[in-house]
Amino acid sequence: MRVLNFGSLNIDYVYRVDSFVRPGETKAALQLATHSGGKGLNQSIALARAGVKVCHAGKVGTGGTFLVETLKKSGVDTDSIEISSLPTGHTIIQVDNSGANCILLFPGANADIDEKFADRILPGFGSGDMLLLQNEISGIGPIMRKAAARGMAIVMNPSPFDSRVLSYPLDLVSIFLLNEIEAEGLSGEPDPEKAAPLLGEKFPSARIVITCGAKGSLCMDKGRLIRQKAYPAKAVDTTAAGDTFTGYFLAGLIEGLDTAQAMDLASRAAAICVTRKGAADSVPLRSELG
Ligand code: RIB
Repeated sequence: MRVLNFGSLNIDYVYRVDSFVRPGETKAALQLATHSGGKGLNQSIALARAGVKVCHAGKVGTGGTFLVETLKKSGVDTDSIEISSLPTGHTIIQVDNSGANCILLFPGANADIDEKFADRILPGFGSGDMLLLQNEISGIGPIMRKAAARGMAIVMNPSPFDSRVLSYPLDLVSIFLLNEIEAEGLSGEPDPEKAAPLLGEKFPSARIVITCGAKGSLCMDKGRLIRQKAYPAKAVDTTAAGDTFTGYFLAGLIEGLDTAQAMDLASRAAAICVTRKGAADSVPLRSELG
């Protein structure tokens, strides 16, 4: 099975701070590092490092070619990445002493994805292939409909969550990967233990995975609630932990693991990711998981 990831590519400007900047405050950062990132790019890298054949479709603008090189080095097929006249997407990320982050996103070229672009890419894919989406690009609704019409399985990580998500044809989704905020956005329920069964009723043919950071993860799978612990780790930077979980969970299913085994694999990968700085750079190789 191949995965087509229609996803964002961002330059991440990561600022180390002792605590996050508050409204009205100016503060000096302790350190600045520039990394390859974007939820789309990170998830493609996680899939590739886990051993899956993945094709990344997206757009970069000026100064974004190093992102394409990062994907290539990890074995991702980059033939479906186009150049936009808009600037490359970027983020400003603050990481505090506990490894927690907050992210300001400028979409740039990621917002230059439309139906015409989808029509150039999707004919190369069909039944037996998987479409992976996050919520950092434009054109998502039409891409979902066209991919479903081709028989592709649709995986949705609606991150970052905003009002656009509710306008997507979510009944076409086979697997949701959500954090607690996204689960609440889709269900109206802040407690993930209650949100999971509610979402299971709302989307009966989908698997619903909810990640809860250090508290572990849940999956509602055909009426059964599966719980997975988080592996202990000394976090230095949690950026891309969710992306690593997504890539490895899907890789586990593709290699034939059951849902519980795939969640365990994904949790082990995410625990390694948080011990390293950066986004794409912090995603482990399959060989590091044992
Ligand atoms: O999930 C982490 C990613 O979110 C970062 O790499 C950043 O680019 C934002 O998209």
